[in-house]
Amino acid sequence: MNYLNMLTQLGIGSAHPGGYTSTLKLIDSISLKPGCSILEVGCGTGRTACLLAQKGYQVTAIDLHPEMIEKALHRNKFLQQNITFEVGDICAIPSASNQFDMVLAESVTNFADAQQAISEYYRVLKPGGTLYDREVIYLNPMAQDNVDDLQKFLGFAQLFSAEEWIAVLESQRFTDIRLTDVKLMDERAAIEEHNYPDQYQLVSEGAYSNVLLWQTSLQYTQLFDRNQGFLGSAVLTGEKPQDGVAFAP
Ligand SMILES: C[S@@+](CC[C@H](N)C(=O)[O-])C[C@H]1O[C@@H](n2cnc3c(N)ncnc32)[C@H](O)[C@@H]1O
Repeated sequence: MNYLNMLTQLGIGSAHPGGYTSTLKLIDSISLKPGCSILEVGCGTGRTACLLAQKGYQVTAIDLHPEMIEKALHRNKFLQQNITFEVGDICAIPSASNQFDMVLAESVTNFADAQQAISEYYRVLKPGGTLYDREVIYLNPMAQDNVDDLQKFLGFAQLFSAEEWIAVLESQRFTDIRLTDVKLMDERAAIEEHNYPDQYQLVSEGAYSNVLLWQTSLQYTQLFDRNQGFLGSAVLTGEKPQDGVAFAP
């Protein structure tokens, strides 16, 4: 079983570095007026999308995997938020250009061609709109074998340093590029996460009795243990300039 299948089976609600705790902090730090439009890409089971809608934003949320979207819809049956959930690829976002005040990605862009995905985020943002993208990065140079093992296991198309991410955003014409919440992976985040149990987590039938799932989970722990001190995460922020309309609507 691959890593993304494991996350899907378990219906993990905040499968990104820092978990829901980091999502709450990020959203609290954003000054966007209620009613503004947000596209959440790679929304997984929709936990963040629901939170954003509850805060009064107009939310569209896409994910490549239909089962993730099914789980997001299941969550929203309880929360009854007005959200458009769709199956969609970050490399070919099913939205018109210049639509959104904000694009949010939480541990998603690494799973696809980052240049292509970032160019799509730019395309769908309104001029003056902002991208927030929290991704796994390496903070200290790693042996190539370890990078290869991680990419293979996680299904990442790339693993970048902070500087490499900044270069990607620059090459796609983002301005005012910032890197915040830069930190090493650590266990404190997992402990804080116990403060926010996910009430609407939908675990697929038979998941807990599937040996393959436990093997993948163990492999995940071992890989991250082996790379402690190297792997971290950061939030990349970039603006689409006011004169940045590069595509017809
Ligand atoms: C690590 S999970 C993060 C999910 C969610 N953002 C969260 O924090 O819980 C990565 C998500 O990206 C989705 N994904 C992977 N490749 C994608 C692509 N090319 N386009 C859209 N979503 C993608 C996966 O299906 C998965 O839901």
